[in-house]
Amino acid sequence: MARSDWYKTMVVYQIWPRSFCDGNGDGIGDLWGVLSKLDYIESLGVNAIWFSPLYPSPNADFGYDVSDYRSINPEYGDLEVFRQVLEGAHERGMRVFMDLVVNHTSDEHPWFQASRDRESPYRDYYFWRRGRRSRAGEEMLPNNWDSLFEGRAWEQDPESGEYYLHIFAKKQPDLNHDNPAVRQEVKDIMRFWLDMGVDGFREDVITFISKTPGLPSAKVKLPAATGMEFYADGPNIHEYLQEYRAVADEYDCMLLGEAPRLKPETALTYLESGELDLMFNFAHMEADCLMTDFLQRPFSLRKLKRAFSEWQEKIDGRAWNTLYLENHDHPRVISRYGSEDYRTESGKMLAACYMLQQGTAFVYQGQEIGMTNLRLPRADMYVDVMLKNNCRIASKFLPRSKVLTLAQRSCRDSARTPMQWSAEPYAGFSSVRPWFYVNENYHEVNVESEEADGDSLLNFYRSLIAFKRADQAAIWGSYTEHCRQSGNFYVYSREHEGERLLVICSFSGREQYFTAPAGFDLADGELIFKNYELNVAVDNSFTSRPYELRVYRFGPAEKEDAE
Ligand code: GLC
Ligand code: CA
Repeated sequence: MARSDWYKTMVVYQIWPRSFCDGNGDGIGDLWGVLSKLDYIESLGVNAIWFSPLYPSPNADFGYDVSDYRSINPEYGDLEVFRQVLEGAHERGMRVFMDLVVNHTSDEHPWFQASRDRESPYRDYYFWRRGRRSRAGEEMLPNNWDSLFEGRAWEQDPESGEYYLHIFAKKQPDLNHDNPAVRQEVKDIMRFWLDMGVDGFREDVITFISKTPGLPSAKVKLPAATGMEFYADGPNIHEYLQEYRAVADEYDCMLLGEAPRLKPETALTYLESGELDLMFNFAHMEADCLMTDFLQRPFSLRKLKRAFSEWQEKIDGRAWNTLYLENHDHPRVISRYGSEDYRTESGKMLAACYMLQQGTAFVYQGQEIGMTNLRLPRADMYVDVMLKNNCRIASKFLPRSKVLTLAQRSCRDSARTPMQWSAEPYAGFSSVRPWFYVNENYHEVNVESEEADGDSLLNFYRSLIAFKRADQAAIWGSYTEHCRQSGNFYVYSREHEGERLLVICSFSGREQYFTAPAGFDLADGELIFKNYELNVAVDNSFTSRPYELRVYRFGPAEKEDAE
């Protein structure tokens, strides 16, 4: 089938099922809840939904540890209700993407259970290795790689005495894609869902699936990531992804790969070859941290702008970008890059700042109503496996209060609190106490109150999404950054067949003086998005208010306007 490019004009809504909506009153989000909210999702104007894993899972990593790839977690429903959701979404013109988590399985997956037996044909589905001997004759781990989630990357099985590899948590053993039988399983799983009618996959940490043969120890130690050079973008990665692409090509579908620490040059090797249509990179999520959200640094707008522009400039014209500011792996963006004191204003500014760039935009549940971080009084009240590990390490050299602040600011749990639907008990998410804490600001921050206010963040998202899907410059326009040196403003333009958009974003919590870049006469532009009423006549210079946003549209550029 010819590969289509409808993915370029879509806006995708991400659902993390456990916290979206509880339909059967047990405190856990589920597909019955999703079914009841399809009209709401459609009302946002998005035309696709990506589900974080819906598969059966012991929930060591909330679904990213899959114990059965061909069914639905009974907590979330069954295949019958999934089919209803799929049909309901399709009827409303929305595509549906599944999360394909095949770098690893759960240790409770029957393949892994069988693989514990050395003689089993499943042994080679995973990386089982004997320990090494030190010079002194002591038993050592098979190599020096770190797990990204829990200490070292190896866990010993008491029965055989051998170790299995886990780049993530102990309960997430890595699958061996060098084994053709494993690749066949992946292809069969893809077909299973594509035959049912799903429209593609978001492939979890997919650039990690090809490990360097021999699994060599790393010479250079990276903080908590030693060995990564031997499994990120590994030797056979393109061959394997091409095999998976060949299956996808039998259908009309989209493949999106998630890739930690990805560089644009490397992304192009996946995108230009067509192995993947889209890729999630993390560069712009590091404007207030180093490599991982837990290692916090003061927010740097320059760092954010560099990341945005580097991806825009290097990908544009050669492949297609993927735009997001929130997902289930990062704390809420208003609490990070904006301000809770200017929740609506900074929320609108942040929305426009990423969505009007070139690429396919993603919106994460709760982002559209400006949900903010969850601050629990004790670090051990958070439940995420990655955070628990970070706190354990940090507690060795930091006081408890410092560890708590780091946890509150960085935890993935902040993105995983129940969706705030109304001011009813439990935020209208459930009729009983939910599986996890509801953010207390739900009395003010909820869908119902946002619906009631024409000027709300939610309604702003609706207009912005409609614009992003319809406006030719917002979709296809070339990207140019302006005012690069500014530490307060992020400014860029998009241009397509004479139409120009100028996006002006203040990241400052104070008033700041702004002058429009050369070539733009603001008085000639139409102000199409803003987050404050204008209190002065339009002038090329103005004093911006905290987190002010202005988006101007210009007709065909006149000659003297050229820079
Ligand atoms: C991806 C997922 C994340 C998960 C990890 C391991 O980064 O987005 O939630 O913990 O992979 O599967
Ligand atoms: Ca439920």
